[in-house]
Amino acid sequence: MVIITEIPALRQYISNAKSTNKSIGFVATMGALHDGHLSLIKSSVAKNDLTVCSIFVNPTQFNNKSDLENYPRQTENDISLLAKSNCDMVFMPSTESIYRDNFLLSFNFGYLEETMEGKFRPGHFGGVGLIVTKLFNLVTPDRAYFGRKDLQQLTLIKILAEELFFDIEIVAVDTIREKNGLAMSSRNSLLSDNEKQDASQLHQALLKARKKLIDGDSVIAVKHYIKSYFDNNSAIDLEYFEIVDSLSLRNIDKVEVTELVSLCIAGYLGKVRLIDNLSLI
Ligand code: PAJ
Repeated sequence: MVIITEIPALRQYISNAKSTNKSIGFVATMGALHDGHLSLIKSSVAKNDLTVCSIFVNPTQFNNKSDLENYPRQTENDISLLAKSNCDMVFMPSTESIYRDNFLLSFNFGYLEETMEGKFRPGHFGGVGLIVTKLFNLVTPDRAYFGRKDLQQLTLIKILAEELFFDIEIVAVDTIREKNGLAMSSRNSLLSDNEKQDASQLHQALLKARKKLIDGDSVIAVKHYIKSYFDNNSAIDLEYFEIVDSLSLRNIDKVEVTELVSLCIAGYLGKVRLIDNLSLI
């Protein structure tokens, strides 16, 4: 596996790949890799001649300085996991090479900024839009792989690719979970074993909410149920629980079981913020 840290070397690698007509699959990450990331790599390796993974803890998407500082960094382990997963190249740029001093450009994703992650992490999606655009321009992949775990991010990346005419197929990959249902996340490495058990309540709550909706309970009743689920003896401090249209992510008031509906949740376990989602069918 080739490790590249500088943009000129990246451009050279990509230009060599294109000159030999190799298809490129791309997985963008912030490192501290786990089986969720590796499942994206696996999907890319299966479909493309070359798989490129980026590891970059993107400062512009952190709306909270201590979250950025505490974000887990495990570069050596990441490199070894990627090499074992048949990734061909890993791009690990410095912050200075990605963001010039006093950069000006910013992104705004309209109503997506006002709901769920957008609402509770102001500026977060602007940062995601900026870094993903930069990486798409540099790597120019044929396909880019993103996890359903971050449903709102996936949605806005599809919008980004469409509105900016990126000739890149955006491939969605299912959420990989721990045995207890907890969605894998780099942030889980900040949790103790007991906390990981508590954190699985997010998934348990989504399963219960899904069952209730399928059984015919109203959106209001299910939202109320979830609120009291976390109010009563839960270690998790619920931030939001929303029932949304899976494509637009707009809130819905009435659920038709045949429609694409997603249940989205976020909460804090101590200082660690966790998110999860589940589709209704
Ligand atoms: P990061 O949190 O490292 O996630 C990188 C990719 O892995 C994302 O597409 C995410 O949805 C996916 N992923 C994370 N956990 C997963 C799981 N349990 N199952 C399946 N896929 C999972 O998301 C980011 O980084 C950043 O915002 C990034 C897109 C790299 C821009 O900085």
